[in-house]
Amino acid sequence: MAFQNPPGVNDLLPSAAFGVQSAINTASRIFASYGYRYIETPMFERTEVFTRGIGEATDVVGKEMYYVFPMSSVAQLAEGESSSLASLALRPESTAGVARAVVQHNLAQPGAPVVKLWYAGSMFRHERQQKGRYREFRQIGAECIGATEPSADAEVIVMLMAFFEELGIPRSQMVLKVNSMGDEACRPLYRNAVRDFILARPEEFCPECLRRADTNPLRAFDCKNPSCQEVLKAAPRITDYLCDECSTQYALVKELLHTAGLSFEEDSRLVRGFDYYTRTVFEVQVHHGLGAQNAIGGGGRYDKLLEEYGAKPTPSLGFAVGLERIMMVLDSLDAAPQLPPRAKVFIAAVDEEARPAAFILASALRTAGISADLDHQARSLKSQFKVADKLGASFTVIIGPDELAQGCYTLRNMTDHTQQTLNQEELIELLG
Ligand code: HAM
Repeated sequence: MAFQNPPGVNDLLPSAAFGVQSAINTASRIFASYGYRYIETPMFERTEVFTRGIGEATDVVGKEMYYVFPMSSVAQLAEGESSSLASLALRPESTAGVARAVVQHNLAQPGAPVVKLWYAGSMFRHERQQKGRYREFRQIGAECIGATEPSADAEVIVMLMAFFEELGIPRSQMVLKVNSMGDEACRPLYRNAVRDFILARPEEFCPECLRRADTNPLRAFDCKNPSCQEVLKAAPRITDYLCDECSTQYALVKELLHTAGLSFEEDSRLVRGFDYYTRTVFEVQVHHGLGAQNAIGGGGRYDKLLEEYGAKPTPSLGFAVGLERIMMVLDSLDAAPQLPPRAKVFIAAVDEEARPAAFILASALRTAGISADLDHQARSLKSQFKVADKLGASFTVIIGPDELAQGCYTLRNMTDHTQQTLNQEELIELLG
């Protein structure tokens, strides 16, 4: 069929969209209790924001980014003029954009309190689509800017887990994985060790891992090739290379997580797909409801990212969660929020004369905060009752010649089928 959504780009029909909206409402409530403020940044940015922040040698930037250009640039190209079609890109994630906005608007001056921001919206990555992996997907994320202490790492992780639990994913279904990626002092040594490990076994790695062994060897840990993953089991571990400061910081984060009663697994191969990470990284995985794409959220520290956009050193951290994946998990647990009925009250007009009264009553009920609907399809009374049933209305108000003559309404309870006659004030009182 010609008019279908492109691969990996999904419609969220009302019940799925309601689930997403409910999750956003939950995030708003939970995150506010930790002091977070909502922010929106553009869907597309200058490409350099992503290349600098996320890293050119990452899959997300190197292979999966969508570029944005107006028709006029395409026309210029056709005329042979040089023009870059790659100067703007759709956001593949939001951390880079939020960091850029914080620096641009000077929200995190030295000495200022920590800036806590959260966001929700679509991200775009040209990935090979499969269950749980899409080309447009929705995230909710939170960024804690200017926080140096391990307590911030623990707080962000605690908030993430509290959010998942509040959505209805029990702790027993989730595995929290943590690791430290080290910093600019110790990570280079580790990178070299991984590079040497890969280059010592060229026949055991895929061409992509070999190609990146020099530029970005840690990306091998994200390689989707199972045989590379098997070989990497014997690779050096970052935890053996951490400098004293990173080790101490990591130990403190773990201690605080214990204190908060969160169980976690240390995974020294968790390196995450972006170059901006330093020190703490984490990911939450589930074992049911998703296939191979079992990460429902992840994040970490990015102590150097804001400097890329011109800020003074501003250690920061954050996370993002995937809303489509969360909805799939909630569905598998039978815990997805259910779309409420469209209207509490359906107003049925017995004949043509009653229609204006039905229209006016609907407005009065809605003004009083009661959801109401009425027929707009010239249906018979019997057919209007059927519609009321289909819409899941708890009550039907019937207006006919008798009701018009007496200035009252017949209210029918759709569950027990009892009826009573009420004036408008009584009706609003009873339904409100
Ligand atoms: P990420 O791990 O790339 O991190 O994405 C976070 C979550 O978004 C994933 O755990 C997954 O649930 C979901 N997700 C990612 N890609 C897809 C996809 N193609 N289809 C469906 N869901 C997907 C980030 O984006 C970082 N910005 C997180 C962060 C914030 N780190 C620090 N602050």
